[in-house]
Amino acid sequence: MGMKSLKVWVSGLIYAAFLRESYALSADAYRFGDDIGSALGRRLSNGASIYFPGNDNFSNATARWSQWGKPNISVVVEVANQWDVAETVKYANEHDVPFIAINGGHGNIKSMENVHQGIEIWLHKLNTVAISDVGDTATFGGGILSHEVIESLWAAGKQTVTGVCDCTGFLGPALGGGHGYLQGRHGLIADNFVSLEVVTADGELRIVTPYGPESELFWAMQGAGHNFGIVTSVTSKIYDVQGEGLWAFERYSYTQDKLEALFDYLNIFGNDGNQRVDVMYWATISHEPDVDPTNPSISIFVLQEGVAAMDPDVSAPFRNLGPVTVNTNSGPYVDISKWTEFNMTSRACRKGGGYIARFPINLKNYNLEAQRTVFDVFAAETLDNPVFGHSNIMLEGYSSQGVRAINEASTAYPHRQDTILVSSVIIFDNATDRAAAEAFGNRMRDIFHDGTGEDEKHVYVNYASGDEPLETIYGYDWWRHIKLSELKKKYDPHNRFRYYAPIPVAGL
Ligand SMILES: Cc1cc2nc3c(=O)[nH]c(=O)nc-3n(C[C@H](O)[C@H](O)[C@H](O)COP(=O)(O)OP(=O)(O)OC[C@H]3O[C@@H](n4cnc5c(N)ncnc54)[C@H](O)[C@@H]3O)c2cc1C
Ligand SMILES: *[C@@H]1O[C@H](CO)[C@@H](O)[C@H](O)[C@H]1NC(C)=O
Ligand SMILES: *[C@@H]1O[C@H](CO)[C@@H](O)[C@H](O)[C@H]1NC(C)=O
Ligand SMILES: *[C@@H]1O[C@H](CO)[C@@H](O)[C@H](O)[C@H]1NC(C)=O
Ligand SMILES: *[C@@H]1O[C@H](CO)[C@@H](O)[C@H](O)[C@H]1NC(C)=O
Ligand SMILES: *[C@@H]1O[C@H](CO)[C@@H](O)[C@H](O)[C@H]1NC(C)=O
Repeated sequence: MGMKSLKVWVSGLIYAAFLRESYALSADAYRFGDDIGSALGRRLSNGASIYFPGNDNFSNATARWSQWGKPNISVVVEVANQWDVAETVKYANEHDVPFIAINGGHGNIKSMENVHQGIEIWLHKLNTVAISDVGDTATFGGGILSHEVIESLWAAGKQTVTGVCDCTGFLGPALGGGHGYLQGRHGLIADNFVSLEVVTADGELRIVTPYGPESELFWAMQGAGHNFGIVTSVTSKIYDVQGEGLWAFERYSYTQDKLEALFDYLNIFGNDGNQRVDVMYWATISHEPDVDPTNPSISIFVLQEGVAAMDPDVSAPFRNLGPVTVNTNSGPYVDISKWTEFNMTSRACRKGGGYIARFPINLKNYNLEAQRTVFDVFAAETLDNPVFGHSNIMLEGYSSQGVRAINEASTAYPHRQDTILVSSVIIFDNATDRAAAEAFGNRMRDIFHDGTGEDEKHVYVNYASGDEPLETIYGYDWWRHIKLSELKKKYDPHNRFRYYAPIPVAGL
């Protein structure tokens, strides 16, 4: 594998060229004011609206989960159909101004900050759902949120893979692969795509399918999609809810002395990638004074599919470790987000707070020494630097048979063999702490990486902080980089979609 040429491909030089371009566009070529209201307004459908700063709808459209990765927006175009999206893209290109599609507002990669005085294409009205007659696929609007997918399908006795948080977009996660509770059965969200309707950089509306003339674009949309177009609708596979669709939940909180025993057990639980398909977990390391007033502690929630109460063979090992608290819950699939605090009124769905920056790495197993070292660094840094006191480390262990069953070369998502998603999540309020946050997050990520004993570092695009070398995000295979940058050249030669883990255009 050509490591040397890879380094050239992702060199700072290329990045610098991107940045200069986007600054230049906004400084020189920007004229909005009254003009866009009438000039673009005339080209849009009756259902569309245009908002400027000061309007309540502008505030709502631009509110962010995190200030980290916040784009700078001058005008919001609230689109009502796919043609509005296409017209807005054409208008932006005619005036050489940056544009970005926004849906759930939860993206937080630093490259989104390179939008300066941009047009936001607000997708939230594109939230339709149509289930096919046969009932094995559904077509969703490109601005639908996860909870709208989950609830509308549930009402029809159906479900599909979505992200685990009610208020993120369905497609924001999906275009980077898309992890969720049902992936062990059905693969990633993107693995369930049947066809997409996409507005590409030229403002053309394209139907993108695995076997049609746009088959390579289909491949790219499954993992690198944010770089290639705006999805106005997607048809995805859906599945019958089995039985009553019941799930059981337990949440355990442990003091830090249990760390080694817990992660040792989670390695057994993970079973070298063959974790039982009906069980999964999400753990956090954070300060929870109720659990331990001095040290950080560890909480974990465990979910089991298809039961009214958790099987003792699932819960006993966790209970036997001696948690400080245990919470239990059970009920229908649609209630999971209440137990896990990812529903619409949860903190995870609140917008307008401070900075939240993630420093992610994928793992296959836990290295107990690395877990302890990271824990100690987290404890010391949050003690020395109380501005980071609300930070946490997230460790997600979904089952993965469905993800691993798919040929890795068949989609742009490169990391199918990794089973654990780890993120150091640094939370703070003041922009002056950004550099220290980055140093803190990267330090913990380096410890996790050293603990893998591998040269390659794997990062999930949708969690990336924004400074990662591109091969960590899109894969170390040289052919992936050639293919992706050639596809950029074909579909986005002027690099309009350069705000989300941007892929260089071949030859540019
Ligand atoms: C609390 C929380 C929970 C999360 N849970 C999960 C999870 O369970 N699984 C998972 O995989 N990820 C998860 N993520 C990460 C998530 O995938 C990203 O944050 C994603 O960018 C969110 O999409 P959004 O629409 O909410 O954000 P936005 O900020 O609105 O969009 C993010 C990016 O996606 C692009 N985009 C959005 N919609 C479209 C579209 N229709 N067509 C083209 N581009 C589009 C935007 O242009 C932008 O570049 C989570 C994030 C948070 C903050
Ligand atoms: C903005 O969002 C808030 C919270 O969701 C909502 O209550 C309010 O009505 C919205 N404002 C407008 C003008 O839609
Ligand atoms: C905000 O949007 C709502 C719904 O489209 C609309 O009724 C309202 O008039 C808008 N408010 C402003 C201040 O533009
Ligand atoms: C975007 O940036 C401009 C210029 O730096 C600034 O004046 C404006 O307030 C910013 N817009 C928002 C909504 O923050
Ligand atoms: C969200 O979940 C909490 C419990 O975690 C619950 O109190 C609240 O009512 C739920 N909100 C909605 C909108 O269901
Ligand atoms: C942010 O930090 C700087 C430097 O530490 C400090 O001067 C400033 O008051 C802080 N601002 C806020 C809003 O806390």
